[in-house]
Amino acid sequence: PATLRVSEAVSGAKLGANVKVQGWVRSVRPQKANLFLHVNDGSSLQSLQVVASSELLTLGSAVEVTGTLRKSPRQRQPFELEADRIHVVGDCDPVDFPFKIKERHSLEYIRQFPHLRCRTNAFSSLLRIRSEATTAVHSYFKENGFVQIHTPVITSNDCEGAGELFQVEVKGEKFFSVPAFLTVSGQLHLEVMSGAFSRVYTFGPTFRAENSQSRRHLAEFYMVEAEVSFTQSLEDLTKVMEDMFRSATEHVLAHCAEDVDLFHKHVTPGHRVSPQGHFAIDILNQSSQKFAFPTDWGCDLQTEHEKHLVKHCGNIPVFVTDYPYDLKPFYARDNLDHPEHTAAAVDLLVPGVGELCGGSLREERLDLLKARLGEAGLEDTYSWYLDLRRFGSVPHGGFGMGFERFLQCILGVDNIKDVIAFPRFSHSCPL
Ligand code: 4AD
Ligand code: MG
Repeated sequence: PATLRVSEAVSGAKLGANVKVQGWVRSVRPQKANLFLHVNDGSSLQSLQVVASSELLTLGSAVEVTGTLRKSPRQRQPFELEADRIHVVGDCDPVDFPFKIKERHSLEYIRQFPHLRCRTNAFSSLLRIRSEATTAVHSYFKENGFVQIHTPVITSNDCEGAGELFQVEVKGEKFFSVPAFLTVSGQLHLEVMSGAFSRVYTFGPTFRAENSQSRRHLAEFYMVEAEVSFTQSLEDLTKVMEDMFRSATEHVLAHCAEDVDLFHKHVTPGHRVSPQGHFAIDILNQSSQKFAFPTDWGCDLQTEHEKHLVKHCGNIPVFVTDYPYDLKPFYARDNLDHPEHTAAAVDLLVPGVGELCGGSLREERLDLLKARLGEAGLEDTYSWYLDLRRFGSVPHGGFGMGFERFLQCILGVDNIKDVIAFPRFSHSCPL
């Protein structure tokens, strides 16, 4: 018999034919002489209904079912497989197996089993969506003329200067001639490349030794970063951020409708996201007096402030621009014409999450950059970066989007640990 994936079988491929399906048993329901099984192989949210004569089978077993694919008399699924042979490839102890009921375990419960939670409907949907969202991000950049750069995971620079570096050593000793770290951002390497390709991006793992146990921080997360040359103003950047967000969201909603629906109906009910709607700029500046959490000039925004801003604007994505200069890393461009000392930096805040993207125009003027690096005693460390301003410097800027936070936003998932296959956070690296 032909071997079908579950996704093919549930849509009636090879109806009437003798076929073979391999997968894991998601539910077993004995009924009179028959046993109803739902078998899933991860290819779709729908499990295949299998009708078998009462043979003992347990939840979680790996099976290979041979039989005839036929129209189902029941409404819920149009096709089912009438088994004439069930081969248990790997059996499963029903007492110890942590998922006993068919579905609807909370995300929190299944999080305790990082090696098994991909066998649940919710988490396998999530991982299919994550995979498709990855494709969506790459498609956006490809369609818009960006070159993908594989920026290094090991680096000697601390781009953000926030001291959240994981140091790389071998048996407690330096491996390279200089101290090396896992990257906190590929931005500086992208800036190198934007000086030759104009539009570049990278999408890979990023590391921060954050001690917080928050619902939106991980020690290892995926970041999408883009860098654009010949920018005129921050709006050239916010346009790319908005376009990418919209296009990736539309792609996911169009290509993973069934999986997204499961989330919105059963996992995070009430949550809806639409790529439509207006983005607002400078809201913070325009309405700063009205906020319930007033911030003094010069303070960074806290999660509460970000969430409040988004709510204040009617639960739509919001850009906040022109942060106090001293809050931003050395690379941020000085807004010399602002009376308050600001940098041309922008964050995109989104419902339920707060900060989704951080970006800025970069200081392309040699004298200003040199002065700032000099003040920090970093002129020698970043001599190569200063070179970029000596040899054909152009106005440019870029941003980074936390990929897990993007998934949290579109799916309404409260905890970042539930949108990545193997979350790493302080005191937790189980496998
Ligand atoms: O705002 P951040 O720190 O910006 C940068 O690293 C810039 N160098 C990016 C650039 O301009 N190329 O980080 C960017 C985004 C944040 O807005 C957030 O969404 C995400 O990365 N992020 C994290 N996500 C999960 N866990 C963490 N610990 C994160 N830290 C930042
Ligand atoms: Mg930031």
